[in-house]
Amino acid sequence: MLDLALSRKDATSVRADAVALFCAEGSKHPDGVPAGALRRALARAMAAEGFTGKEGEALVWHAPDGSAAGRYLVLGTGKARDADLETVRKLFAALARRLERSARHLAAPLPAAKGAGEAERLQAAAEGLLLGGYRWDAWLSRNEGSARKPRLSRATLLASPVKANKEALSRAQVACRATLLARELVCEAPSTLTPREMERRARKVARAHGLTIKVLDEKAAARKGMGCFLGVARGSDEPPRLIHLTYKPARKPKGRVKRVALVGKGITFDSGGLSLKPSTSMETMKCDMAGSAAVLATMSALKPLRCPVEVHGILMMTENMPSGRAYKPGDILRSMSGKSVEVLNTDAEGRLVLADGLEYARRLKPDRMVDLATLTGACVVALGNQCTGVMGFDDGAVEEILAAARATGEKMWRLPLFKEYRTLLDSKVADIKHVGSRWGGAITAGLFLGDFAGRDIPWVHLDIAGPAFAEEDQPLARVGGTGHPVRTLLRYLDSVG
Ligand code: BES
Ligand code: MN
Ligand code: ZN
Repeated sequence: MLDLALSRKDATSVRADAVALFCAEGSKHPDGVPAGALRRALARAMAAEGFTGKEGEALVWHAPDGSAAGRYLVLGTGKARDADLETVRKLFAALARRLERSARHLAAPLPAAKGAGEAERLQAAAEGLLLGGYRWDAWLSRNEGSARKPRLSRATLLASPVKANKEALSRAQVACRATLLARELVCEAPSTLTPREMERRARKVARAHGLTIKVLDEKAAARKGMGCFLGVARGSDEPPRLIHLTYKPARKPKGRVKRVALVGKGITFDSGGLSLKPSTSMETMKCDMAGSAAVLATMSALKPLRCPVEVHGILMMTENMPSGRAYKPGDILRSMSGKSVEVLNTDAEGRLVLADGLEYARRLKPDRMVDLATLTGACVVALGNQCTGVMGFDDGAVEEILAAARATGEKMWRLPLFKEYRTLLDSKVADIKHVGSRWGGAITAGLFLGDFAGRDIPWVHLDIAGPAFAEEDQPLARVGGTGHPVRTLLRYLDSVG
């Protein structure tokens, strides 16, 4: 990860290979450059190039010998009144990418963002650099790997090293390190990252970050009566795992919320099972464990962030494969909660593993339950590929998550759990069937989970099928796992305590 430092210097005196400057639309020179030779030279270059300050615009100006900086990179920030913290994240992500080959040391002032203080802008800048610059390279051979290795290794942010700023910087570093862990897990090839490999990695995280860990294998899950989880797992040669991590804060939680359970969908590869997916839909289905990756990554950051509440992370790990032993359309499974479930389409496996995961979580008696799942294509149709669908019966609990998401810039939008749609899941042969009709698929999936979450413990369902995986480069994440919504979860856990 890029080394980050703070400095009291300003953009004209800081020493670096490249210094970034920001210029709003309609401005004749970049912000924070005092009147003088440098400002005149930059204004001349900008006028000559027709630089207008629009978002995405960039201009490089090579400084004469003897200057503190080798070159200045002026970035357009768009209209000043539109600039918010997400603008800052994107600007710094663009910087990290632009300079990764051509500079070792970058320095940059903090651009303005409406309504945001210095510490917040600093945190956003750090997040932009760390997230935007990340590239998953675990499988590149030594030659390829070093050819593509970024030279950029250090960034100095121009903000004074007072306590609030130092804390904001270290929060950003911890949250981003966790986000990158989630990305790495999602990116890893599905035959490498099996449920057992996830167990190995979870044990490593537990050891390094002060968590306790308990793992249920097939036999232990059977003893608990997890017929839905094991039904899905049956078609695979890879044994399933339920991984349960626990974080306990140093001091007894005193707030309204004392204990939170996070449940992650961990399908390490979703072939669809006997209701086999078409091959192109399968190409990205290593991403189907992104919920569990986000939970594990979140758990890894709780101790360094001194999270005030007790957190349980439950990862429901299995493959969904077709085979002679696979579960079948028409099967009826007995869930851990005792409810029987009629299976119609074996590609709707996520809600089955979560049904048992939620019952397991309920028995821990948490004050809140949050599940995370790449659950439905329907949610991506509804909200697009950058936005999580948020569902739940408890308005307060839903709002707590939405508020955290607004603060981190991760897009989330609530979908309704209309009780009228619950009849779509009525079964003639079992207590419930697991798929509804063609329409409103994200909602009926949410309603199915709602029957297992219950009404007594406030529960929130996050359908992350869209934003968990980037099929094309995005401002803050290159192709692959995005680590969404780790930053939101961390913020949420900090805010409810
Ligand atoms: N893992 C998929 C959902 C998904 C789709 C995730 C696209 C990421 C991107 C899930 O298991 C699934 O296959 N859902 C089905 C449900 C249907 C059979 C009721 C779907 O969305 O088509
Ligand atoms: Mn599926
Ligand atoms: Zn799936």
